[in-house]
Amino acid sequence: MKLSVIGTGYLGATHAAAMVALGHDVVGLDVDADKVASLSRGEVPFHEPGLPELLREGLASGRLRFTTDVTDVGASADVHFLCVGTPQKPGEKAADLTYVEAAIAALLPELRAGALVVGKSTVPVGTAAGLAERVEAVDADLVWNPEFLREGFAVDDTLRPDRIVVGATSERAEKTLLEVYASLVEAGTPVVSMDYATAELVKVAANAFLATKISFINAMAEVCEAVDADVTLLADAIGHDERIGRRFLSAGLGFGGGCLPKDIRAFMARAGELGIDQALTFLKSIDDINVRRRARTVDLAREMCGGSLAGQRVAVLGAAFKPDSDDIRDSPALDVALACQRAGAAVRVYDPHAMDNARRDYATLAYAASAVEAATDADVVLHLTEWEEFVTMHPSTLSAVVRQRHIVDGRNKLDRELWTREGWTHRALGRRSL
Ligand code: UDX
Repeated sequence: MKLSVIGTGYLGATHAAAMVALGHDVVGLDVDADKVASLSRGEVPFHEPGLPELLREGLASGRLRFTTDVTDVGASADVHFLCVGTPQKPGEKAADLTYVEAAIAALLPELRAGALVVGKSTVPVGTAAGLAERVEAVDADLVWNPEFLREGFAVDDTLRPDRIVVGATSERAEKTLLEVYASLVEAGTPVVSMDYATAELVKVAANAFLATKISFINAMAEVCEAVDADVTLLADAIGHDERIGRRFLSAGLGFGGGCLPKDIRAFMARAGELGIDQALTFLKSIDDINVRRRARTVDLAREMCGGSLAGQRVAVLGAAFKPDSDDIRDSPALDVALACQRAGAAVRVYDPHAMDNARRDYATLAYAASAVEAATDADVVLHLTEWEEFVTMHPSTLSAVVRQRHIVDGRNKLDRELWTREGWTHRALGRRSL
């Protein structure tokens, strides 16, 4: 089939390459000429394991190309996937739909009769119904088909999704979308069909649930800290109950990134507009618990430095909001680094893949070229993003270079028996010291 993907960020670039892998012809559209040039050369402008290979295979097949020309897109595809971003409005909680608006406005005059527009962007509930009227006015159809990909697993999540959600008002439109995904459906991927509003809600509800799970266990961590209990053992034990499950119960520094924080805030804002804000006030607590973990990490660092961070040297391991990603949007690690700096510490940050992004957006922080360089002369080392490189690092790698063997594990992923045996004072969120 002939497809287009509008917006070639994380979601769009992955979706475009994955759709070629499913056998389709794909043209990717973006307003950013640099991004289009880079993708056309087979270079992915962000870190996503497996995507560069998939992109290059797609380009080599001759069935994938990128353009800035919407006329070209309208003329060469029958199914158009809307993959533009919906960031948080600056200074507000609500989602910014500027990019969705601009993409639709540009696309509508170019659509061939009978074309299908597939919404994948995360939008406030009610958006699709409004877009459908405009799409139908030019004799095309709209379906809403949210995605659930995780950064770091984007390729796998797109090619092996847990489910395909289709919000549609016409059978013809749904049938066309399922033809695009035919090989996934044949492989047994469940398809759940519904109306537009429910499909829009599925995405934000899923993210709100995941955020709730993380903040729940982080709230338990706060309680554990007060009574000298251990949140990781608690999570293991409650996680054995299949109704609860152990996944997404890793206590620590909490969630960041481009999705969970902004999605729960936008969801609350939408509930306010709908006059049902009470239904989602609990999400405010979820957000608050999450942000409090960052302050608690700074407190642990302060305690380890004898009560004040002023004049102390702090090594920060990790800048990305999670490992296997160079994404620093709403990164807990960088937030903590900045707070330590504001408290008077000399902070040095190292991350295996997110250094360029961190330097660009957090110019006041100092950066090191390796974990050892970051830790040199440090009074405390903060492990804030659980990259494999840090989790598997032997403490002796840092023992000789630090000023004091103090480590805070903000992700509860280090082998604390080992670190303690090697002479380090180890503190972690939600766990008493050994
Ligand atoms: C998330 C959703 O998982 C995905 O389905 C959706 O499409 C987009 O948002 P992503 O933001 O890529 O994906 O990251 P995810 O792996 O979900 O992690 C989110 C954050 O939660 C990270 O900062 C991670 O460190 C944190 N986290 C996750 C925890 O603190 N504890 C956990 O147990 C799990």
